[in-house]
Amino acid sequence: MALDLWGMFRRRRRAGVSVDLESLDRSQLPRHIAVIMDGNGRWARARGMPRAAGHHAGMGTMRGIIRAADDLGIGALTLYAFSTENWKRPRQEIQYLWQLVGEFFRSDMDELVERNVRVWFLGDTTVLPAHTQAFVKEARRLTEDNTGMIVQFALNYGSRSEIVDATRTIARRVQAGELRPEDIDEKQFSDALATCGVPDPDLLIRTAGDVRISNFLLWQIAYAELYFTPLAWPDFTRDEFLRALVTYTQRERRFGAIKT
Ligand code: IPE
Ligand code: IPE
Ligand code: MG
Repeated sequence: MALDLWGMFRRRRRAGVSVDLESLDRSQLPRHIAVIMDGNGRWARARGMPRAAGHHAGMGTMRGIIRAADDLGIGALTLYAFSTENWKRPRQEIQYLWQLVGEFFRSDMDELVERNVRVWFLGDTTVLPAHTQAFVKEARRLTEDNTGMIVQFALNYGSRSEIVDATRTIARRVQAGELRPEDIDEKQFSDALATCGVPDPDLLIRTAGDVRISNFLLWQIAYAELYFTPLAWPDFTRDEFLRALVTYTQRERRFGAIKT
């Protein structure tokens, strides 16, 4: 599906509504973008609508950002959809979120397959409702032979529990005599995480104005560039996504070194 995204942006830019695309160095785009999709509830409340309406609108934004990232040739996109802490919400809201997962995969699965996207999941999906687990399984199966962009949906994901799980995995290997404690290194640890095989995010985006990480990819974002926008997730358009990318490409990533 070769959408002329660039043509579209250029046209919009001429119309004066887009970001300065000339300043986007495509060779400098992030390989992996992680997104904390926040603000659905506040977006709905501001419109006198139920929170569910915000989540539904947010699903549309997510679709648009997956398409845009794929059109730009981004290697991996990780989307925080439900945290281990989100179980504290009212049962009705939680049920609606799982219903939305089904709605999304029913409507978008064909396109994801066609786009050659690999759909992966982070978090313990075994405790999700049976119908949600069925969609998770099906999405994995239908895209397992794909070779394109990796889209990781974080569902019932928490970074601390992921780190604890990784520690257990490594401890078992030590106990079994497969590994010596002195041989545990950062690579071994990364490989024991759920994100094994995916490069660490270069860019982390959080919408809706809160400047925090909320238990997302704590290990993996050690050197990510952080981008916070006050816009609620349903208002985060493709243009806003591009704006984030332009900002990213203009930052100097030093990784502790100095400019020579
Ligand atoms: C993000 O929007 C979606 C999920 C966490 C599932 P919120 O539902 O957190 O929206 P706010 O932060 O209450 O506005
Ligand atoms: C983070 O948003 C989790 C997701 C976007 C899925 P929250 O709305 O749950 O985060 P807090 O509670 O504001 O930290
Ligand atoms: Mg929130």
